[in-house]
Amino acid sequence: MSKIKIRGICRDYVERRGKGRDASGELSNKVSVLSGVDLDIEEGEMVCILGPSGAGKSTLLRIVAGHDKASAGSILINDVEVDGPSQDNIFVYQQNGLLPWYSVWENVELGLRLIEDEAEKNNRIHEYIDIVELTGFESHYPHQLSGGMQRRAELARALAVNPDILFMDEPFTGLDYLTHLKIREEVINMHSFYQKTTLMVTHFIDDALIMADRIVVLGERPAKVMMVEKLDYPRPRNIDKDPGLSDLRDRIFLMLGVSYVA
Ligand SMILES: Nc1ncnc2c1ncn2[C@@H]1O[C@H](COP(=O)(O)OP(=O)(O)O)[C@@H](O)[C@H]1O
Ligand SMILES: [Mg+2]
Repeated sequence: MSKIKIRGICRDYVERRGKGRDASGELSNKVSVLSGVDLDIEEGEMVCILGPSGAGKSTLLRIVAGHDKASAGSILINDVEVDGPSQDNIFVYQQNGLLPWYSVWENVELGLRLIEDEAEKNNRIHEYIDIVELTGFESHYPHQLSGGMQRRAELARALAVNPDILFMDEPFTGLDYLTHLKIREEVINMHSFYQKTTLMVTHFIDDALIMADRIVVLGERPAKVMMVEKLDYPRPRNIDKDPGLSDLRDRIFLMLGVSYVA
C-alpha cells in the first residue's frame, strides 16, 4: 500500500487581473495550474519534486498536505481521503515559520503542547535542539540567530513533533551556499535515521539528485508529471563522480529547457 496516493489532481485559479491559459490552452481568466497529476509515494520514501518556476509545485504540496483544495482528483494518505490539514503532518515552508516572539526552546515546544509529562517533553526538546546543533541557543529569539540557525530551529520544531509525513517547500531558499550544504546534509542524516516519508519541493536540481529516493519532474503549467526517476545510488552521493547521476542531471536540465550547463 502506498503511503500517499495522488490521483488526477487538477487545480484551477480564477485570475482577477488579466488572462492566462486554461486546460485546453485557450485564453481565459480561469487559469489551469495542475492538470491531472498522478503519483504514489511509499512509506519512508524521500521524494523530490522539480519543475519550472510557477509550474504549481507549491500548489501541489499544499493540496497533498490538505492546506488547499484540488479542483478535481483526490489525495489519499494511508488510504484515507485528505480533507484538510492533519496533526500528523508537518509543513516546512519556504519562508521562515518561527514565531519571532518565542525563543528557540519555546518554538520547538509549540508543537509538543499535547505532551503532558513535563520531563518527557523537556527531553524531547533537548534531543532535537541537540540534533540540529543549537544547544546553548535555547533562549535566543529568531532575530538573534543567523538564517541557517533559524532554519535548523525550524527543522527541530518540525521533527520534534514526530510527524508521520514531512512536507518541505524549498527549505534551503535564502541560505548561503555553505549553510545550504550543511543543512542539506542534516536533512539527509535525519531522513536516514528517522525514515520519515518526505515530500520536498525544490528548484535546485543538485539537491534532488543528492537527496531523493525518487525525483519527480513537473512540466510547464498546466503541469503534469513529465518524468519519474528512481535513484538507486549509494550515499553519500557525489554527482560529478557518479556518471549515472551526472547523466541524470543532464537529462533533467534538458527536460527543463537548459541544454548546456557549465
Ligand atoms: N492563490 C492563488 N490565486 C491565484 N493564482 C495562484 C494562487 N496560488 C498560485 N497561483 C498561481 O499558480 C501558479 C503556480 O504557483 P506555485 O504553485 O506557487 O508554483 P511553483 O511553486 O511551482 O513556483 C502560479 O502561476 C501562480 O500565479
Ligand atoms: Mg513554490
